[in-house]
Amino acid sequence: MILSNLKNKTIIIIGGSSGIGLSVAKMAAENGAAVTITSRSLERAKIASKSIAGEIKAAQLDVNDDNSVKDFFEHQTAVDHIYIAAGSTKIVPLTESSLADSMFSFNERVMGSLRIVKAAITKISNGGSVTFTGGISTDRPIAGAWVSGLGTASAEQLAKVMVMEYPHIRFNAISPGYTDTPMWDAIMGENKLSILTTVAERLPVKKIATPEEVAFAVIFLMANPSITGEVIHIDGGGRLI
Ligand SMILES: NC(=O)c1ccc[n+]([C@@H]2O[C@H](COP(=O)([O-])OP(=O)(O)OC[C@H]3O[C@@H](n4cnc5c(N)ncnc54)[C@H](OP(=O)(O)O)[C@@H]3O)[C@@H](O)[C@H]2O)c1
Repeated sequence: MILSNLKNKTIIIIGGSSGIGLSVAKMAAENGAAVTITSRSLERAKIASKSIAGEIKAAQLDVNDDNSVKDFFEHQTAVDHIYIAAGSTKIVPLTESSLADSMFSFNERVMGSLRIVKAAITKISNGGSVTFTGGISTDRPIAGAWVSGLGTASAEQLAKVMVMEYPHIRFNAISPGYTDTPMWDAIMGENKLSILTTVAERLPVKKIATPEEVAFAVIFLMANPSITGEVIHIDGGGRLI
């Protein structure tokens, strides 16, 4: 079984306190990996780590902060797989926000991912992997979310360009469609259920993805030694409509 490739591997989840990242951490631990989850808050990382069976390490790391990223990886001895979930979505028209404010979420996803690769690269084992997070906005941009589309497209492209820089390490990306996670609680509030129900009705699969379904794609990319430079879409056919 190919998932046994994860047994005793060291796996770091950047943004593992909630949603997709937390689900990846759970699945990695279930498959025998030694897992560390990070959050901008050490307390949130610790609380999340306690929701997972096994010895899960918790650490503070903010992808926007060079020192925080460098400091974290300086303390790692060897790493096999990294999943970068950290990222935010900004929905605001171009003319209604300063470019600096708008570009925050682009920088967080793209510069944040590059910061992780730069700090981690010498610690990642041959054949190990880094998985980035893109999203449906790459193929189906929506009005007002232009910066999200730029960010997800760039994160997906990172999976390809990094392979040419560091061919001994595998780089891949996932591109989730609408997925029912705490991210949408923060953005949609009490309207979450009705909005996601409407979105689901339009999708070929007639359902919104769960964090576990998206996490399974990340685990697949980590475990399969022949996949690199790939982008997996978990969007219920959202790109086709
Ligand atoms: N849910 C969707 O429908 C969907 C669709 C497409 C793409 N995505 C992308 O998938 C990724 C995971 O999203 P999710 O839905 O699972 O959201 P989530 O539940 O809000 O989880 C986001 C995770 O990232 C961490 N994080 C956020 N900013 C960070 C930063 N600057 N440095 C380090 N960690 C940070 C958060 O930790 P703390 O808050 O504890 O720091 C949390 O653990 C995001 O990049 C999101 O944009 C989601």
